[in-house]
Amino acid sequence: MDELAGALQKVGLDKVPAEPNTYPAHNPFDLFRSHVTELLAKSSGIDNKIIYPTLQKTSKSEHGDLQLAVQALRQKRKDMAEFAKELADNFPESPLVDKPAVTGTLLNFFYKPEPLSTLVLPNILKSGPTYGFSAAQHLGLKDPADPSKGRKKIIVEFSSPNIAKPFHAGHLRSTIIGGFLGNLYEGAGWDVVRMNYLGDWGKQYGVLAVGFDLFGSEEELVKNPIGHLYDVYVKISKKAAEEADVVKAAKEEIAKGEGANTAELEAKIKEIEENGVDQQARQYFVKMCDGEEKALGIWKRFRDLSIEKYKKTYARLNIHYDDYSGESQVKEESMEEAAQVLQEKGVSEVSDGAVMVDLTKYSKKLGKALVKKKDGTSLYLTRDIGEAKQRMEKYNFDKMIYVVASQQDLHLAQLFKIEEAMGWTDISSKCQHINFGMVLGMSTRKGTAKFLDDILAEVGEKMHEVMKTNENKYAQIEDPLKTADTLGISAVMVQDMKGKRINNYTFDMDRMCSFEGDTGPYLQYAHARLCSIRRKVIAAHPDVEEVDLATAADLTLLKEPQAIGLIRELASWPDVLLNTVKTQEPTTVLTYLFKMAHALSSSYDHLQILGSERDVLLARLALYTAARQVLNNGMRLLGLNPVERM
Ligand code: ARG
Repeated sequence: MDELAGALQKVGLDKVPAEPNTYPAHNPFDLFRSHVTELLAKSSGIDNKIIYPTLQKTSKSEHGDLQLAVQALRQKRKDMAEFAKELADNFPESPLVDKPAVTGTLLNFFYKPEPLSTLVLPNILKSGPTYGFSAAQHLGLKDPADPSKGRKKIIVEFSSPNIAKPFHAGHLRSTIIGGFLGNLYEGAGWDVVRMNYLGDWGKQYGVLAVGFDLFGSEEELVKNPIGHLYDVYVKISKKAAEEADVVKAAKEEIAKGEGANTAELEAKIKEIEENGVDQQARQYFVKMCDGEEKALGIWKRFRDLSIEKYKKTYARLNIHYDDYSGESQVKEESMEEAAQVLQEKGVSEVSDGAVMVDLTKYSKKLGKALVKKKDGTSLYLTRDIGEAKQRMEKYNFDKMIYVVASQQDLHLAQLFKIEEAMGWTDISSKCQHINFGMVLGMSTRKGTAKFLDDILAEVGEKMHEVMKTNENKYAQIEDPLKTADTLGISAVMVQDMKGKRINNYTFDMDRMCSFEGDTGPYLQYAHARLCSIRRKVIAAHPDVEEVDLATAADLTLLKEPQAIGLIRELASWPDVLLNTVKTQEPTTVLTYLFKMAHALSSSYDHLQILGSERDVLLARLALYTAARQVLNNGMRLLGLNPVERM
């Protein structure tokens, strides 16, 4: 703040403008908004509190930086256009903003270029990786007025694949969006618990164990646990289906009643019903439920090896979990406790031997939900109820987000409603389902992709091909395969986060890997280009390496509209971040980054660096360094790995 006060003194402001709950030292827009508010309050007599929220960021630069619709000031005036003119006329001279331009009933405020560059660029250069995030830290505080009370805690549950089943598009999107949300809340000062809730329990894990006995290979399991368990599962499921067919056919034959070989057929049926896959799996799962060591040991090994492998793949996406939970981790006691509350509160009812909750009394759409099967076993929903309670006990969270495909809208709506009906409002009021649409046509050359690694490998290969088409550049890259891998991952992630979450999109390998259009490789290219500019400057002027651009560059030399336009974009990053916390949409960040990258690429022709006079060179380098920082901060928030060369 002292630094800002000093800088403002230089332009003739003896006090830092700061309306309540604003962070002018971290957010340039807070500074300008507060300043305009103060001046307008003084000149019009209207209360600051009314003015501040009416100052909106404009969407087009022709309309200035901030826009105010005078109706929003809620003053009793007949002629609003005249009121606007009057406010503009009375607005005093300011070192930071021009007198507002009036269009109809709108006041348009333009920041003055000089203070914009001299205040904003040093701020970005000094804050570095925290620029933007430092303006959002208060959001995660339990009490923004008293940071010593600590941070709020959020659980972000995401990815949550099922062991021995394919990692499908829903898991891919959950992984990408959830990774982003974890970063977002962390960036906004929350204490984040990243949680993976594995599908790792149920009779199918009995099936898997039986299958492993028949088709499994120890060597394969260790080498490629996820792929191998899936293969085993496919084989054993086929065998189980065949057995079921045999039983069905035999029963039909018996029903026809020819009678000749009935005894033989009955024996066949008996054999399968007693010793077939289905029965063995059932028995196996019962042993697992009873906590029998040997059965659990095998299952646990499958789980551990799978997690180990998942971890490696997630790491490629910059994702690390704090907690690998899963359906298996829900304790019988937790579900018992829930069942009791359900019953006591009259929420559940017994129907045909099973227990269910009739949610139609809250809303028709919610339907009826089964919480206990006739045989007494739990369901997916039951486990989620018990798990929520356990999570609250373990983490005492302030908020919990489930990042799950919109196919499960009903499931989560039922879950939250049941919790509420049980009186567990301490949990239900803190939970949110973050949903998303489907990926269409997610297939690769090898057919429909099944595992995350396969998808990433294919995209990496594709990216490698694209890179090879530019021989010159390709030759300069140190480790082209690694770069291709990183670019491929960016391609997949950006394609996924480009639109609103709820929209479906088509998995289009050619488009996402292109350097043109709003793609991951395009963003990476923008970042790499900024890095290369700096490398070139330093190669030509080695002493620049040591120069502290934030203090040494004369930023008033940045006068070109392209430079000012770019600084305006950079200045708005903290606001974009705050807005992203509201929308919880990665597209809020991406739309901004693409806009910024476009402003960048159209500035290069006008803002040459090499060959410019030293003062100009330093000022422009400061601008590009700040731009690289903002791009980098945004890309990391999305979970991308910004590359320095490509
Ligand atoms: N494993 C589930 C699936 O693949 C997703 C789990 C979502 N999370 C939850 N708490 N139910 O469909």
